[in-house]
Amino acid sequence: MSVLDTCDVSTQDQPSLLQPLSLRGLKLKNRMTVSPMCQHSAVDGAVQDWHIVHYGKFALGGAGLVLTESTAVRSDSRVGVADLGIWSDDHVPGLKRLSDFAHANNTAFGLQLAHAGRKAFSEPLWEGGRALSIEALDASGLQWRRVGPSAIAASGEWSEPEMLTQSEIEEIREDFVAAAKRADQADVDVIELHFGHGYLLASFLSPLSNQRTDTYGGSLENRMRFAVETAQAVREVWPDDKPLFARLSCLDGAEGSWGMEDTVALALALKAVGVDVIDCSSGGLTEETRRSNVPRGIGFQVPFAEEVRRRAGIMTQAVGIILTPEQANEIVASGKADLVALGRELLRTPYWPAEATRVLSGPEDFSSWPLQHREWLDRRHKVLSRLSESE
Ligand SMILES: Cc1cc2nc3c(=O)[nH]c(=O)nc-3n(C[C@H](O)[C@H](O)[C@H](O)COP(=O)(O)O)c2cc1C
Repeated sequence: MSVLDTCDVSTQDQPSLLQPLSLRGLKLKNRMTVSPMCQHSAVDGAVQDWHIVHYGKFALGGAGLVLTESTAVRSDSRVGVADLGIWSDDHVPGLKRLSDFAHANNTAFGLQLAHAGRKAFSEPLWEGGRALSIEALDASGLQWRRVGPSAIAASGEWSEPEMLTQSEIEEIREDFVAAAKRADQADVDVIELHFGHGYLLASFLSPLSNQRTDTYGGSLENRMRFAVETAQAVREVWPDDKPLFARLSCLDGAEGSWGMEDTVALALALKAVGVDVIDCSSGGLTEETRRSNVPRGIGFQVPFAEEVRRRAGIMTQAVGIILTPEQANEIVASGKADLVALGRELLRTPYWPAEATRVLSGPEDFSSWPLQHREWLDRRHKVLSRLSESE
């Protein structure tokens, strides 16, 4: 039996989106995931009240899995100054508060682990989203470094990264391992390795950013080595009964860059070292590749999830402009993906998964709402129904 047969949903009664999914020892209550979204609201990497409420509301909102924003494995290589972090034991209690609250509300909690590489330290989008200048970073008093496989900047706005030595590559791999151990201490259920969007591990994959001549550059196998070794090393310390996800940019879209054939090869290699789910995103290596070559549209990345699932025989998570319960359900029902992740739609409507459950399973089903709310919503629904009948 293949891994995909175990999650065949076609024979069961419930709508596919609402069916539970077993991933190793974890049982997700449905197929809806909160996609990673940077909040730029941490202080020295530590969870604040903002995160308690922000992730807490999603735990109440009915999703099966809440994934955090990219959480930095090193303090000197964050996406933004105020990223969540897991480079210190001091971060564990705050993250445990998040996972405890999710668990108390029957929701699984996952952490996205990241190293921003040559795209380290940009402004939050609300301040413009630009790369912070060297002058601003030096003046900030932060420890910071932009590093990459080669001394090639991500684009004009980014400073040139330092080329990592092999021993620095090993050190960063061990940072991911240390982060995974801390995530386990914080009772996190899922780790997602951020291998997409042009950050460190993604920058090793593409020949546009990786022009090394050692064992980490050149052939596809060599360019994949850092990602595969990191996944393998994390898998070795991450408990056997906990699932491991990897987010990939399936397409960068630029001529001579990373494409679908490469993604399928990487998915197979990651599966071989114990990755369970590929989260199928795209773009990010440079601004140009993101904007022009992966055109936006409703469900625009779903075909990537479908192709990876079919060709690599690994579970996938689809993401990108997924808007309605019917659309999300169709993605799972037709075998295009095993999980559906939503980002901005959930910023708009954090109770989207509970509402999707109601829409798909019957207008009177409020069972996905928190206990404290559901009876009131049910009563109101009955009143409104009576009123509309008597009109
Ligand atoms: C505010 C915001 C922050 C994001 N931060 C991250 C991140 O930390 N890691 C990541 O992999 N993707 C990040 N993304 C991308 C989302 O996870 C998602 O892939 C993207 O928004 C497309 O899904 P959507 O159309 O449902 O929003 C972010 C998106 C938004 C809107």
